[in-house]
Amino acid sequence: MEWTYLNESFFKKKEVKISPFDRGFLFGDGVYEVIPVYKGRVFLLDDHISRLERSLQETGINKPKAWDQVPKIIDELIKKNRLPNQAVYLQISRGNEFHRSHIPTKTLKSTLFISSSKLEVNPYKLHPNKPGLKVKTIEDTRGLRCDVKSVTLLSNIMALREARSEEKDEVIFHREGNITEGAASNVFVVIDNLVKTPPLSKKILSGVTRKYVIYLLKSKNISFSEEEINIKDLFLADEVWMTSSTKEIQPVAKVNNKDLKSIPPKDSLWSNVLSSYI
Ligand code: PDD
Repeated sequence: MEWTYLNESFFKKKEVKISPFDRGFLFGDGVYEVIPVYKGRVFLLDDHISRLERSLQETGINKPKAWDQVPKIIDELIKKNRLPNQAVYLQISRGNEFHRSHIPTKTLKSTLFISSSKLEVNPYKLHPNKPGLKVKTIEDTRGLRCDVKSVTLLSNIMALREARSEEKDEVIFHREGNITEGAASNVFVVIDNLVKTPPLSKKILSGVTRKYVIYLLKSKNISFSEEEINIKDLFLADEVWMTSSTKEIQPVAKVNNKDLKSIPPKDSLWSNVLSSYI
């Protein structure tokens, strides 16, 4: 796992360097993707690339010179980093500018950085009976462009730190009484065999895993709906799940120290869907 890629060359992790004048460093002016690799094969790459392309369009960050070679570079990097299961991190920042100015020069050459680390096996695949996640609900005070996968994650980090200080694993954000998403995941709830997730909007990230889970639900003829979910519904739900490229699907057991309903994994929809995952 020692190799990374930066602007057209491979470097060892310990040796790779960028300028402090990179706008990603100065302003958090960049976008990113986290892409899972299973058995040496990149999973749902086209969905990640489409979302990244949209993030570039929305922010007006220029495509890096090597844009068309990104799939090939990722393949090369995962081969160099050897492990079968990896999480690829890909970041594009707006580039270097020696005069600090909020308004960027239009012609900047963007910075492309790719690294990878070991992708841990979803613990709920190995041990379905492991106690579910503990989450804390926190008011969503982030800006209203959560649909852009931006590296500017300070609000998410602050919320996660708050949750971790109370020994919680994740956050469920809520805005005006409705849940939005996790600090690094999307949320699903199951009520009376209907699986629900908040609709796509600028309030949430359009998760690649969310889309894949919806595809699995449809292929299994499980009732599904994209609709606003009141925060109180978390406590009435039969199941609550968090999804992301690194978590896949993970069940929630406790919200704000309150136990949710406890359905044995063999009877639960989360483990049914997880059994068909990838
Ligand atoms: N984050 N919402 C937020 C705020 C996220 O950060 C993520 C994922 C998701 C789920 O998106 P996806 O299914 O495409 O991974 C939703 C990644 C894993 C991260 O920042 O590490």
